[in-house]
Amino acid sequence: MTKKRFAKQSEVVMTEMVLPNDTNTLNNLMGGKLMHWMDVVAAIAAQKHSTRIVVTASADSISFKHPIALGNVVTLKAKVTRAFNSSMEVFIEVFAEDIPANKKITTHRAFFTFVAVDQGGRPIEVPEVEPETEEEIELYEGALRRRQLRLVLAKRMDPKDAVELKSIFNLDEKKEAK
Ligand SMILES: CC(C)(COP(=O)(O)OP(=O)(O)OC[C@H]1O[C@@H](n2cnc3c(N)ncnc32)[C@H](O)[C@@H]1OP(=O)(O)O)[C@@H](O)C(=O)NCCC(=O)NCCS
Repeated sequence: MTKKRFAKQSEVVMTEMVLPNDTNTLNNLMGGKLMHWMDVVAAIAAQKHSTRIVVTASADSISFKHPIALGNVVTLKAKVTRAFNSSMEVFIEVFAEDIPANKKITTHRAFFTFVAVDQGGRPIEVPEVEPETEEEIELYEGALRRRQLRLVLAKRMDPKDAVELKSIFNLDEKKEAK
């Protein structure tokens, strides 16, 4: 088994400015452009953790609540939360900043999954993650549940085997029974 790596070793911060070519007809950032940046920042984090070629396996649901305006500065932060066999869950946070107005908001939080592959595209083992901070531990602990949910939705896991998810549903059933 490869040596563990600290979560912070995979941390990546990327800064972009919303330019006219990135916007829709309302002068706000195109969703697809943001998803491209998210994919790139998360892929770099997964590469830093695994020191391997990585491919995107999935992106969990992304909703667009706050439009990001032309001229805003967009900061994307990514970090691997947990690694399994060949796959890694990456947490991404997006912030939009209007520098002249001195306003900064968090616009997105999302999870992407990457798989480390060899030159032939075959999945290969990656090091485990060692979380340190309270936030890293919380993200690490939730990662197994999120993995099971996305694998069940992708029809890659039988819901019967999703033990972590079952424990949540059992809890809800108990509450309803009261
Ligand atoms: C991702 C990929 C390498 C998985 O290959 P595979 O032959 O299905 O391999 P496996 O079944 O052994 O799965 C490998 C890992 O991928 C994970 N995985 C596969 N599909 C997944 C999904 N939809 N969501 C999350 N994880 C997924 C598996 O859980 C497994 O993780 P583990 O090794 O940590 O247990 C393969 O499907 C692929 O190359 N996809 C295209 C990637 C790509 O081109 N991305 C850019 C999109 S445009």
